[in-house]
Amino acid sequence: MGAHARTSGPGVAARDDGPLFAGTGRHPSAPAREAVPSTLAAPASMPAGRPGPGSGDFAVDLENSSEFGAPTRVETADGVRYFINEFWTSRQRQANRIHEVSYRACFKPQLPRFYIQRLTDPNDIVYDPFMGRGTTPVEAALAGRIPYGNDTNPLSKAFTEPRINPPALSEVVARLEAIPWQTFTEARRGELTAFYHPETLAQIEGLRRWLLERQDAGRLDSVDKWIRMIALNRLTGHSSGFFSVYTLPPNQAVSLERQRIINRRRNQVPPRRDVPALIGRKSRSLLSSSVLPSARDLLLLTGQSHDTPRIRSGTVALTVTSPPFLDVVDYGTDNWLRCWFLGIDPRAVKLSQFRSVDRWQRFVRSTLGELARITRSGGHIAFEVGEVRNGTVRLETHVVAAARGLPLDVLGVMVNQQEFTKTSNCWGIANNRRGTNSNRIVVMRKT
Ligand SMILES: C[S@@+](CC[C@H](N)C(=O)[O-])C[C@H]1O[C@@H](n2cnc3c(N)ncnc32)[C@H](O)[C@@H]1O
Repeated sequence: MGAHARTSGPGVAARDDGPLFAGTGRHPSAPAREAVPSTLAAPASMPAGRPGPGSGDFAVDLENSSEFGAPTRVETADGVRYFINEFWTSRQRQANRIHEVSYRACFKPQLPRFYIQRLTDPNDIVYDPFMGRGTTPVEAALAGRIPYGNDTNPLSKAFTEPRINPPALSEVVARLEAIPWQTFTEARRGELTAFYHPETLAQIEGLRRWLLERQDAGRLDSVDKWIRMIALNRLTGHSSGFFSVYTLPPNQAVSLERQRIINRRRNQVPPRRDVPALIGRKSRSLLSSSVLPSARDLLLLTGQSHDTPRIRSGTVALTVTSPPFLDVVDYGTDNWLRCWFLGIDPRAVKLSQFRSVDRWQRFVRSTLGELARITRSGGHIAFEVGEVRNGTVRLETHVVAAARGLPLDVLGVMVNQQEFTKTSNCWGIANNRRGTNSNRIVVMRKT
């Protein structure tokens, strides 16, 4: 069975919240405000309840808190207030290891935790319509809230569901021992030897068939789903903890042709990997935290963010989410190998991708319309967007515009900054690095 040593958490691909955010640069139109101390923020060991009394008004609390190490800067641009501080990062307690599965453009668990702690109570419903690897629902379950999630990509539920009610490690070990690995000797997808040693590929294919047969027979249980989730997570990566030879980071699968080029350039041949041993090892790592999530009334959907009739109107206390960004990520291409393992056609997955800001804004509006329907009066939405097109497009302004006319009050935009970025420019233009570095969260309240 697998090695008993912990892995060092490979493959965690949280988007970086800080590097380009922040700054000394006060917007020209922004009046300076003085911050007033209060008790908003949670100490690192804060349990699941609310961190402090607060004022009952989230924006006032953000502005007045002295708990973040420095006063919150409040600036106004185009009539929208920006709250700038190191709201979550170094001083927060470590995230639970159960989060450590890679997914492109996922956010750090500290982000949903920040809002869950401050804006909900135990047994409230916490939702993410674009849940990805499930950071929000998993964090909600850890905090004793009811996790709801949705994503158009079926991979998302396969990643999230097993980690909300994880099996015991002993059950995983017993199931791994019961799987007939000795019969998995034939590899039919020879082209995949660009990634895998033939014997490793035979184990992967055998496990895949075994899981699909159990699924077709209606016998796939929670331990099988856990093993499937770990296998999906281990398919490709850059260390010996993954099934594949060295490839690009584990949250993207390159094409076969590209992998052959990588192999030639690195003069590498896929080494033999022990699939059940690696699944055991990663399971041990993910299940190593003393507290694990559990939830009874969870609801995880696979569908479009703007069309979730199974969620009852006026029931959700909080949504913490991050939509697909503008023309940045091709989740379909990234996920072809994972879709194959899961037995789904990646072309059938309807991911929303936009080249024009106008179309993106219309998409966001339709999602916000649905969120306004399902959110209870006084409930909140934290809608995170990243920096795109070198900071020349401020997506948060389009989220604010998309909310107009809906029963949602925009409380402001939060900018989470880290210590080492404090001399850069908050408004993005001076930060000409590529990617989604400068993330902002539009916070709204249902009227
Ligand atoms: C930025 S990622 C979210 C990552 C997530 N916050 C996490 O921590 O893993 C955006 C997600 O939106 C999903 N998506 C794209 N179009 C969608 C749509 N129309 N409806 C629902 N989900 C969609 C993608 O599959 C992807 O998982």
